[in-house]
Amino acid sequence: MLGTWFLSVSSVCVIGSVLIFISAVSLSDQSGSVLTVFRTAAEYQVCADEWNHDLSKLTCNQLGLGVPSSVSMVPDQPGVPGRRRWLHVHPEWNLRNGSALQARLEKRSHACHSRRRVSVLCSREGCGVRPALSLHPHRKKRILGGRVSRRGAWPWQCSLQSGQSGHVCGCVLIARQWALTVAHCFEGRENAELWKVVLGLTNLDHPGAHSQTRSVRSIIVHPRYNRAVVDYDISVVQLDSEVEETAHIRPVCLPRLGQLPSPDSYCYITGWGHMGNRMPFKLQEGEVRIISMSQCQSYFDMKTITPRMLCAGYEAGTVDSCMGDSGGPLVCEEQDGLHWTLFGLTSWGSVCFSKVLGPGVYSNVTHFTPWIQQQIYIHTYLTD
Ligand SMILES: *[C@@H]1O[C@H](CO)[C@@H](O)[C@H](O)[C@H]1NC(C)=O
Ligand SMILES: *[C@@H]1O[C@H](CO)[C@@H](O)[C@H](O)[C@H]1NC(C)=O
Repeated sequence: MLGTWFLSVSSVCVIGSVLIFISAVSLSDQSGSVLTVFRTAAEYQVCADEWNHDLSKLTCNQLGLGVPSSVSMVPDQPGVPGRRRWLHVHPEWNLRNGSALQARLEKRSHACHSRRRVSVLCSREGCGVRPALSLHPHRKKRILGGRVSRRGAWPWQCSLQSGQSGHVCGCVLIARQWALTVAHCFEGRENAELWKVVLGLTNLDHPGAHSQTRSVRSIIVHPRYNRAVVDYDISVVQLDSEVEETAHIRPVCLPRLGQLPSPDSYCYITGWGHMGNRMPFKLQEGEVRIISMSQCQSYFDMKTITPRMLCAGYEAGTVDSCMGDSGGPLVCEEQDGLHWTLFGLTSWGSVCFSKVLGPGVYSNVTHFTPWIQQQIYIHTYLTD
């Protein structure tokens, strides 16, 4: 299964010639998300009547989310108050110059014949793969405790660096121009100019020929980030230009809407995090096991575990976020054994911070998938 990115935002807004999503998806809509357009303060539904595959492709491409993986025509809910307004596919949609979706839609006097709306899911191809490792036999041996990773083993891992301090936090590449990290890395320093992102690194001290460095164009800290609870601990980072995808630099897959790690999957955390009081220069990896929220809560009587968090560790406490560092990835291997999906970002907890044997706490990426896509959309199409 490829990492599927839902067009998980149900509303699209047209301001001048700019199309943006403005509201989050209704998660109850299992079919994915329904395209909606706002135009001069009125909400329009995209009528499915003349919708076609090329338009789905255009939509996914416009979002930078790859190709359509599933398209469905969703019956309009009966009993919606007020009259529905529809946008129809323009009869000459394929002759219209603008590449944007909104240039290919038009208002018409009549209603939508099928009374169906369009729902599109996109998936990014080639995410979550580790080309640098394919030459080596797949190691299935489980290793407790952390270890130095092999070069190129985690091609989505990046290092968020700031002038004087150098490496500050881990980060994760999710698309050519986009990375994720946690919100708390930016406390008091949200200015994009302070930061750079280094990819393709194994050794912090010796970036080497496989590394690429990008400045940061924008930092989007989750607006509900709560420092006291360390809730909503996530940020989206836009690089100033796309990275070149190589065997050593690849985006990870994001979880599908509602996707949780399967119970027996291999999950790993990676990072240059502190080990005792020294910081290793080589990227470390450690296998972890996801544990339930209730089990996790029992370790932390003074802290609240919220649905925006995910806990992982070893019951024996041998491996936890001590091996990773803030903002770094917790990834799990898909059942196909070919793709890795990002389920967590190292946030807080762990023996390193608390002296109490316990799990590490990670930001629950599944929870944030719609928000992440919304930010990518807005920052791709609104700010230039
Ligand atoms: C589309 O582009 C072509 C060439 O760039 C131009 O000649 C034509 O007038 C454009 N059509 C519209 C409808 O803007
Ligand atoms: C993470 O978020 C998903 C989606 O909102 C939710 O279903 C899940 O219960 C959350 N928590 C964990 C521990 O997975």
